[in-house]
Amino acid sequence: MGKLIFDMSGLYNTALNITALKAEIKQSAGENLTELFYLPSCQSTNTECMNVGSHGSVVLAEKQTAGRGRRGNNWHSPDSQNIYCSIGINKTIAAEYLGLMSLVVGICIVESLHSLGVDDASLKWPNDILLQGKKLGGVLIETKALSQDEFYLAIGFGLNINLTQQECDSIGQPAISLNQLHEVNFTRHQLLVALVSNILQQSMLFEVDSIDHLIEQFNRFDSFRGKQVIVKTRTEEIAGVTLGLERTGWLKVQTEQGVQSFSAAEISLRQRV
Ligand code: BTN
Repeated sequence: MGKLIFDMSGLYNTALNITALKAEIKQSAGENLTELFYLPSCQSTNTECMNVGSHGSVVLAEKQTAGRGRRGNNWHSPDSQNIYCSIGINKTIAAEYLGLMSLVVGICIVESLHSLGVDDASLKWPNDILLQGKKLGGVLIETKALSQDEFYLAIGFGLNINLTQQECDSIGQPAISLNQLHEVNFTRHQLLVALVSNILQQSMLFEVDSIDHLIEQFNRFDSFRGKQVIVKTRTEEIAGVTLGLERTGWLKVQTEQGVQSFSAAEISLRQRV
């Protein structure tokens, strides 16, 4: 039976049962999950995850007092049953390919949302999760080098679930929250099981020799492919048309000066209207 918004047993207003959550993630992700930490509040789950530093650990918080977004932005993290989560893994990968990991995670998030019936969730390069063209969530991966080509990754992701319209409007870019959908057939618990299991498994499994497949998957969900865009660097704004991804995950854009490639760290992107 479908659950309408504000159904007390549904996506919102429900305390998490952490023991059950851990057991269910363990059931689908197996030994990939080692520990799950649940915090009523913290500065940032990414910071906690970095401090934990162990492969297969998951940090989940109800509230962040200093949530971080990409490019030094804040991540709005009130205590309102959103999702703030970080997953720690050790990864052997050449540094030039590290940017691919956020594509892996973005794809996992969109696939998990689709599997629960949120069919119009899509991606905006490099790691924005969009719904109805507005920002529903994002991914921030922070890294610590362990040795040559070996890194500890704190894979952080946040999803807006229970924000008010006023909060969405105050975010500084078009934002949306899952509670704005008319009907939701799943609980926050189910969403977390799908997300964490999927991200744990796929981020550990990913190998650079499957880049072509990764790029194909990204293209399927990419809402900006072939679109007229404005690329905003620290110093200028460049108009162009997106052409897809390089094998390093960099974005190719046809500009007046020719084809240019941009790294996720350098730019932000918006559609030209
Ligand atoms: C972005 O779109 O700019 C990335 C947002 C990432 C937010 C998540 S919430 C959990 C984790 N902890 C943080 O401080 N940031 C990430």
